[in-house]
Amino acid sequence: MSAKILIVLGSPRKKGNSATLGAKVAEGAIAEGADVETIYLNGINIKPCQGCNKCQQNTFKGCTIKDEMHLLYSKMKDVDSIVVASPIYFFNISAQTKIFIDRLYAVGVGEKNIFKGKNFAIILSFADPDLFTSGAVNALRSFQDICRYLGATIEGMVYGRASGAGEIKEKQGVMEKAVLLGKHLATLKK
Ligand SMILES: Cc1cc2nc3c(=O)[nH]c(=O)nc-3n(C[C@H](O)[C@H](O)[C@H](O)COP(=O)(O)O)c2cc1C
Repeated sequence: MSAKILIVLGSPRKKGNSATLGAKVAEGAIAEGADVETIYLNGINIKPCQGCNKCQQNTFKGCTIKDEMHLLYSKMKDVDSIVVASPIYFFNISAQTKIFIDRLYAVGVGEKNIFKGKNFAIILSFADPDLFTSGAVNALRSFQDICRYLGATIEGMVYGRASGAGEIKEKQGVMEKAVLLGKHLATLKK
């Protein structure tokens, strides 16, 4: 059975740099026979976590907020790997990506954790050429903490500097790394 991969795009720019790298991951994965689905977070209705903590009660399943995150919960349950692609906004992941990450709380803790043993990868794009002052290091570090908390394995981190939408295409090295990440994820089952 082929590996299933979900790519989650956290930039509002559909043809932006992180989305371009996401497409390259998909290209590599599909070439190796994986099933790939890409979700554009900015185009779906996902509200921020309201901190009701109902999801942490033993008797409660899922999240009280009735929105399109529930579609993502069932997709994420089904896949082997999840790739999160985000631009750096104010020294960390975009708001769209952060809202999505916070909502993982409902299905990412204890007995209800659907992410334990799943493969994760991150894609980042940012304008500042310095990995530290751009905020990219912050985002990578946050991602490490998120995956540790979820019990997920980090299988790749692909990141590069670009400003205008699609400018990342000029960066051959990072584009190739994204294809290789896709090929790698295609070999992984949960
Ligand atoms: C609101 C906003 C905040 C940004 N903050 C940062 C930042 O903190 N560090 C940085 O290096 N680039 C920053 N950028 C630049 C983007 O990260 C960069 O253009 C990136 O390649 C955009 O990726 P995208 O095309 O996938 O949206 C910011 C851009 C915007 C619009």
